[in-house]
Amino acid sequence: MNKVILVTGGAGYIGSHACKALARAGYEPIAYDSLVRGHRDAVRWGPLVEGDLADRALLAATLKRHRIAAVMHFAAFAYVEESVRDPALYFRNNVINTLGLFEAMRETGASRIVFSSTCATYGVPERVPIAEDMPQRPVNPYGEGKLMVERALHWLDAAYGLKFAALRYFNAAGADPDGEIGENHEPETHLIPLILQTALKQRAEIAIYGTDYPTPDGSAVRDYIHVQDLAEAHVRALQYLEGGGASVALNLGTGTGHSVRETIACAERVTGLSIPKREAPRRAGDPPMLVADARRARTVLGWQARLSDLDTIVATAWAWHSSRAGHSAPVRGAAGG
Ligand SMILES: NC(=O)c1ccc[n+]([C@@H]2O[C@H](COP(=O)([O-])OP(=O)(O)OC[C@H]3O[C@@H](n4cnc5c(N)ncnc54)[C@H](O)[C@@H]3O)[C@@H](O)[C@H]2O)c1
Repeated sequence: MNKVILVTGGAGYIGSHACKALARAGYEPIAYDSLVRGHRDAVRWGPLVEGDLADRALLAATLKRHRIAAVMHFAAFAYVEESVRDPALYFRNNVINTLGLFEAMRETGASRIVFSSTCATYGVPERVPIAEDMPQRPVNPYGEGKLMVERALHWLDAAYGLKFAALRYFNAAGADPDGEIGENHEPETHLIPLILQTALKQRAEIAIYGTDYPTPDGSAVRDYIHVQDLAEAHVRALQYLEGGGASVALNLGTGTGHSVRETIACAERVTGLSIPKREAPRRAGDPPMLVADARRARTVLGWQARLSDLDTIVATAWAWHSSRAGHSAPVRGAAGG
């Protein structure tokens, strides 16, 4: 089996962690990234092919040159609010360009793909935890585009035998425990980095959007999964497909939710700093609670989250953010970092 894997979006947050996990498992990751939202210095475990997904000829040439049989496809835009403002941008990059990748794979005989899907394909769930066979009714163009790709994969498998694992991540968080890479989005919209940037005084305060949800403390609840656990699940999914596994859609989460208030309190504990907060009204389209039923991934992949307790997530993220900011505050009371 060819050990060279094309990793689109390999210069991004999750893709770079996947490259590290692939290298550790004996694969040779080739990052394919335009750097439109990624970072050259996050590509450390193999070469970077600097190219756009829209460049089908370059994609096909790269797949052919390395006789690549399997792809991990992370490259996409991933801001929900931006997708609502500019859906065409999202359908072009996340759907049309992705279909182009599938065409290039078919042209060159690459027949396996691990695809970054999202819990945003479920929209506002009828109940939690959310199982894979619950209705997928996205409430924004970002989730809609990811669902379109899942549906396309289903039919491409039926017609051409393209085997896929569609991994529906819940909230990716945390950083490489060795401190080599971490989350570096600009602008940042994810809760944990925003809280830590507030701790570092890079932001004045952290807003708690919604304090009257039907949750234990009134703030919204999310399922955070450590990025290294996510990366390891991708390697398992690849090995599952290499072993002849049937196409599959899997939630990647922990099955445990944490509220916004709880997450801020955890960050105060880990950093030893008081973090200014402001209560604000709910934001349109924010579900009260998103928590995965994570059992299928465990059964199919034999995978289990190991670093996804909230303290470890926040401690590894804090080590990353504080070291980049040149901050010397110690990491308290938690493993990792
Ligand atoms: N971060 C999360 O919590 C989360 C949750 C669910 C799903 N996802 C999905 O996971 C994937 C990775 O997310 P991330 O947080 O690492 O995002 P990211 O923005 O850090 O990484 C995406 C990478 O793709 C590259 N890219 C985008 N469009 C490209 C194009 N046309 N050609 C070449 N490269 C291109 C960017 O330069 C970037 O390096 C995305 O598909 C996202 O939708 C992320």
